[in-house]
Amino acid sequence: MKQWSQFLAPYKQAVDELKVKLKGLRVQYELEDTHTPVEFVTGRVKPLASIYDKTLEKGIPFEPSTELAAELPDIAGLRLMCPFVDDIGTVVEILRQRKDLEIIEERDYISNKKPSGYRSYHMIIKYPVQTINGEKTIFAEIQIRTLAMNFWASIEHSLNYKYEGEMPVEISHRLERAAEAAFQLDEEMSQIRDEIQDAQQYFSAFKETATRSYGKKKRKGE
Ligand code: GTP
Ligand code: MG
Repeated sequence: MKQWSQFLAPYKQAVDELKVKLKGLRVQYELEDTHTPVEFVTGRVKPLASIYDKTLEKGIPFEPSTELAAELPDIAGLRLMCPFVDDIGTVVEILRQRKDLEIIEERDYISNKKPSGYRSYHMIIKYPVQTINGEKTIFAEIQIRTLAMNFWASIEHSLNYKYEGEMPVEISHRLERAAEAAFQLDEEMSQIRDEIQDAQQYFSAFKETATRSYGKKKRKGE
């Protein structure tokens, strides 16, 4: 057990650090007084029971090793929830620019949703952790999704858990339909947002012209 605690310690540290750093994005946007592309951030270290299940699935020994670390790149997992679909691209770009992590792989399950109906943007990163024994670089998975995608995924995940992966056909059909509804919700929200932004731009342009002509008139009248 002690071996596992030692093996998992840098993952725990990475999750703690990355949670603080990624939550920091939100704080920075709030200070700028602009739209915040991150609604909330969560993180977890994969529980030992799930690590065990995964080793059975992959047919690798259940022991703390570099093989296990390489085969399970999501022992450290972070999730960023965004209000709008467009925000996901913004967040992806911000992460690509960061100097404190290296992106190893990107998977776009938004353009290519999974057969289950699952949608999310995934990244596997390399992240260096400073330990008392020097630097240790670990893999972590970052999932970026909208609130609607997250709502769907968490319900589907708990149903999958309940049915132990053997979901009744009727339920999985309904989940597919629910995924479509979540997609429509994202679409609708994006359109509303675009219209609000257009209206705001129109309004500020209108305000500017109004102020300018008012200024001119004032000068004329002087
Ligand atoms: P596993 O799906 O865990 O075997 O890993 P993988 O190597 O196939 O990577 P993938 O990108 O397919 O999925 C990684 C993670 O995405 C999973 O651990 C889940 O958190 C999430 N995920 C993928 N597919 C689904 C899905 O159909 N439903 C839900 N709820 N989550 C999913
Ligand atoms: Mg998978």
